[in-house]
Amino acid sequence: MAEKRKAKDLVIAIDGPAGAGKSTIAKLVAARLGLRYIDTGAMYRALTLKALRAGVDCADAGGLMELLAQSRFEFPVAKEPENPAVLLDGEDVSTLIRLPEVSQEVSRVAMVPEVRRELVHIQRELAAGGGIVMDGRDIGTVVLPEADIKVFLTASLEERARRRYLEMRQKGLPATLEEIKKQIATRDKLDREREVGPLQAAPDAICIDTTALSPEEVVDKIIQLCTEGREG
Ligand code: CDP
Repeated sequence: MAEKRKAKDLVIAIDGPAGAGKSTIAKLVAARLGLRYIDTGAMYRALTLKALRAGVDCADAGGLMELLAQSRFEFPVAKEPENPAVLLDGEDVSTLIRLPEVSQEVSRVAMVPEVRRELVHIQRELAAGGGIVMDGRDIGTVVLPEADIKVFLTASLEERARRRYLEMRQKGLPATLEEIKKQIATRDKLDREREVGPLQAAPDAICIDTTALSPEEVVDKIIQLCTEGREG
């Protein structure tokens, strides 16, 4: 920890592969500690949705940057903390950005260095006041390297696919377990192997394997880290 901050000003970074439980855990931790929650994956997903709608190729850096220059991302304080909304140019795209066609393409968009540079800049601005839980792939390493608490969540591929499948079914989105397993494995590979801001644990991150843990158990561990980190 760079310095001891008040609980309400804490900065918590949560990274990990698809389906490791990042957003579920981040939302619960934010609610318990009264912090804001920012889902950075939603920004990459929203830009991907915009590209698909505009017929811009998801690897076309120039086209993507043009779209990004005209994009506005908002994370309004949620009425239901378990369902935070993501607004793209004022439109609630929270469900649309989870569609399989967006998931299929998002890691290609996220590989484009210019896109990452711009989104990282926006993410740092969103976090500037502190009091935030942010989740993604590069939060502890690139976006908020000075975060008070860094957590890297993992789980087996089978368990991550199972969780994502249940989540999609619950939201009424089309999915089969096999397709999801294949898709998150492909996405993880692209995310791990890209040059800029790859998926990796920061050297000072606490790694938690959530395969056999309930969300509450993981949240308790993180809250404990926050308390320990603030003692002494
Ligand atoms: O929810 P899930 O873990 O499936 O993914 P997400 O957090 O919504 O992120 C979707 C995709 O955006 C990831 O697979 C990455 O390609 C990209 N992403 C990223 O590159 N950097 C981040 N900080 C967050 C997401």
